[in-house]
Amino acid sequence: MMKIKFLKIQKKKKKTPLVCLTAYSKNFAKILDKYCDIILVGDSLANVLYGMKNTHKINLDTMIKHTKSVKSGIKKSLCVIDMPINTYQSANQAIKNAKRALRETGCDAVKIESNRKNFSIIKRLVKSKIPVMGHIGYTPQFKKKFKVAGSSFFEEKSLILEAKKIEESGAFSIVLECIALKTAKKITETLKIPTIGIGSSVYCDGQILVTDDMLGLGSFKPKFLKLYANLNKTIEKGVQKYRKEIIRKKFPKKNNSY
Ligand code: KIV
Repeated sequence: MMKIKFLKIQKKKKKTPLVCLTAYSKNFAKILDKYCDIILVGDSLANVLYGMKNTHKINLDTMIKHTKSVKSGIKKSLCVIDMPINTYQSANQAIKNAKRALRETGCDAVKIESNRKNFSIIKRLVKSKIPVMGHIGYTPQFKKKFKVAGSSFFEEKSLILEAKKIEESGAFSIVLECIALKTAKKITETLKIPTIGIGSSVYCDGQILVTDDMLGLGSFKPKFLKLYANLNKTIEKGVQKYRKEIIRKKFPKKNNSY
C-alpha cells in the first residue's frame, strides 16, 4: 500500500506538477486531500499554530498528535511528517523516532532537513524502509537568518551537489526552499526524483505552500507567496455578524432551540 502511493508520486516522467500543501488538522486535510498529491505536516506549525519564533522547540509528540489528526482526514494523498530538529542527530535515533512517527500516525514518509552532513542518516532510514523526503536551500531548523539560496556560482554548485547526495542516499523527493530560479531549474533537471518548490520557481516538479499562509490566515506574506483566499477577512466578517446577532437577540432563533 505504502509502496503504491510511493510510486504514484514519481510524476516526474509524466511532467504533471505535484500539488502539495501543509496541514495540521483533520478538517483542513479532508479538503486538501481532494486536490493534493502530498500533504505535509510541517514543523512550521511551531510558528503558525503555536506562535513560536522558530521551529526549534516543537517536539515529536506534538508532531505526532497533529499528524494523527491530519491522517484521519486523508483518503488518498501521500502524508509526510516533518521530523523536528534534534530527533535525527544520529542514524539510530532517526530510525527509532521515524519508525515511531510512522507507526503511531500511519503516515507514509518523513521529511528531514539537510545540514549537508546528514546524508548517511537518510541512507540508513531508507535502508530501514522509511521513505524520506529531503529539504535543502533555506532550512529553518539549521539557518538562523532568512536568505535566498543558490544565487552565486559557488552556492549553485554546492546545492546541486547536496541535492545529488540526497538523491543518492535514497530520498524519494526533495523540497527546495527559497532557491534562486536558475539553480532550482538546474537541480530539477539534474535529479531523477521530484523537486517540490517553495519560493523556488515554476521549474520545480511540484509546489508546496503553507496552507494557512496561502489562504490568508495570519500575516506572513513573503515574496514567494500568493494569496488564494482571505480567510482573515472571511472569519472576521462571520464573527462580527455573530456578535451583532447575539446582541440584537437575532440568534439563536426558534429553529436553533429545543
Ligand atoms: O514546515 C513546513 O511547513 C515546511 C514547508 C515550508 C516545506 O517545511
